[in-house]
Amino acid sequence: MEVVICKTKEEASRKAADMIAALVKKNPKCVLGLATGSTPVPMYSALAKDVKAKKISFKQVKSWNLDEYYGLPGTHDQSYRYFMNANLFDKIDIKKANTHVLNGLAKDWKKECKAYEAQIKKAGGIDLQVLGIGSDGHIAFNEPGSSLASRTRLVSLTDQTIKDNARFFKKAADVPKFALSMGVGTICEAKKVILLAFGKNKSDAVKAAVEGGVSQFCTASALQMHQDAWFFCDEEAASKLKLKKYYAWRAEGELSRQ
Ligand code: F6R
Repeated sequence: MEVVICKTKEEASRKAADMIAALVKKNPKCVLGLATGSTPVPMYSALAKDVKAKKISFKQVKSWNLDEYYGLPGTHDQSYRYFMNANLFDKIDIKKANTHVLNGLAKDWKKECKAYEAQIKKAGGIDLQVLGIGSDGHIAFNEPGSSLASRTRLVSLTDQTIKDNARFFKKAADVPKFALSMGVGTICEAKKVILLAFGKNKSDAVKAAVEGGVSQFCTASALQMHQDAWFFCDEEAASKLKLKKYYAWRAEGELSRQ
């Protein structure tokens, strides 16, 4: 696991975007795993700038998103399909047909989740997975207590996540209580993983994920077992890490070798 610590979230987002841009240039047909939430927004803006400047093209890229609220249609302004269209897909040259988000209205959620995993497999697996982290250490909607071997499935959100996400809804009661989410096992199969974490309220989660034991109580900690996982943090999110200086020095070398 590499930890890249930057002064600002803009700087961290640019570095993470550069890693994605390098992959897209090297492999224009690559498969991306994408995340929603406020964290990846500046990175998506940086990628949109690159497309506009004709530095990269997503014409042949395929994507699968991590999760979707269960019960929301893709047209709902808080659905993750809507978010992805507004924050990335409508701003780059990706073909909409090549973008995949779980169907929050699927009646047979088991069938939906199984088919989603099969699609990813058929596409050759995810080359690079983008992640945020919840204040309780979750990745996708794998809340504390989720099996580290979990696959795409229906999950129940914790009170903490409902509280954290309430800022996007008119009132807390409107936040869906369930979601369809890739599992920790699904995520860990990606060839490369980029996790972004910004702000003070992510510092405990980052500390537990990077320096705590590997545990289902902080599902991001499973990334310690991944061979190519990168954390891009701002100084606040990294503030509780014990080996901060070492990570910064090591990541510099690793980044230059990428
Ligand atoms: C979103 C997702 C979630 C978020 C996490 C952090 O697709 O899977 O795990 O990454 O809840 O959300 P923000 O970035 O809003 O703090």
